[in-house]
Amino acid sequence: MEVTEVYSHDDPNASDVIAQVANYANHARAMGLPFWIFAEERKPIGMVVFGREPIQLLAPVGTLMSFILVADPQTSREKIREFASEALDFVKRTKAQYALAAFPHEREEAIAEFESLGFKEIDDCYEMIYKIDEPFEVSDKIQFNKVERKEIQDFVRLAKEFLSGTPDSMLNNTLKFILELPDDFLDVYYKIEDFYFIKEGEKTVGIVNFDPRTGRISNVGISPKYRRQGYGEQAVRFALNKLLQNNVKQAYLRVHVKNKAAINLYKKIGFLPETRIKTLIWRRTAG
Ligand SMILES: CC(C)(COP(=O)(O)OP(=O)(O)OC[C@H]1O[C@@H](n2cnc3c(N)ncnc32)[C@H](O)[C@@H]1OP(=O)(O)O)[C@@H](O)C(=O)NCCC(=O)NCCS
Repeated sequence: MEVTEVYSHDDPNASDVIAQVANYANHARAMGLPFWIFAEERKPIGMVVFGREPIQLLAPVGTLMSFILVADPQTSREKIREFASEALDFVKRTKAQYALAAFPHEREEAIAEFESLGFKEIDDCYEMIYKIDEPFEVSDKIQFNKVERKEIQDFVRLAKEFLSGTPDSMLNNTLKFILELPDDFLDVYYKIEDFYFIKEGEKTVGIVNFDPRTGRISNVGISPKYRRQGYGEQAVRFALNKLLQNNVKQAYLRVHVKNKAAINLYKKIGFLPETRIKTLIWRRTAG
């Protein structure tokens, strides 16, 4: 049996179908990404969204990539099987080099269906949150220097070095291509997040960046030379204080389930795991 209906993002007769996946559709539209909805009797089962790197930075900049999303978590295993196979065939007919699909880790049946089509796990992470009640003490021996726009390339180079050495495959993939980030992307990213060099006197010991509006802590990286000396904890405390000053009362972040150092750091501060998400990837070519 086939999931027969496919509606495109600009189909004037599909507004009722698109409205049923408004969350995803609005998000895709806001990013200017085209999408197609797979449906049965005008009820969406899932969608395929296309974009070009850098979005996940799992391939060189400019590479066409895709996301396959299951719309309704209640979808039966049989329907997921049909949808996954049709959506992947659809992606294969395009020039997309890879497809990502993400699920809460307890959705083992959906994960198994995608794996049977050749998808492989690329990420398994906790989303952790922390409710910020009051400011932390931060050592006055450490300076947090705000990165200026003209210094963002230096920040990116340090990020590549300081975020290395983790079992986080998604992060390690990103680090392969991070130096390619185009200037217009960095412009946008710089406007969204706050970036800091962490210094002690003359030496740069780490980097941290976060979104001061949403409370997302995106990266904390300490130079491999200076790890286990308390800088990571100071960096997170600093970021939380900045968020609180901005009236943001909740911080969140993602961390790979095997990144023990980072998980321990965040737990020590009081972060709690909220969900665990597995991300699967299908790649057109091995590698
Ligand atoms: C994770 C990271 C930022 C920790 O920075 P750090 O300066 O070494 O950490 P701290 O010295 O402040 O340690 C604070 C706590 O973290 C935990 N921790 C840090 N390193 C650890 C390790 N290697 N193993 C186990 N726990 C560790 C401990 O609970 C530690 O508290 P303790 O010293 O009282 O035991 C650092 O290892 C790093 O840069 N890793 C690579 C990038 C990364 O994984 N970033 C986070 C995800 S984006």
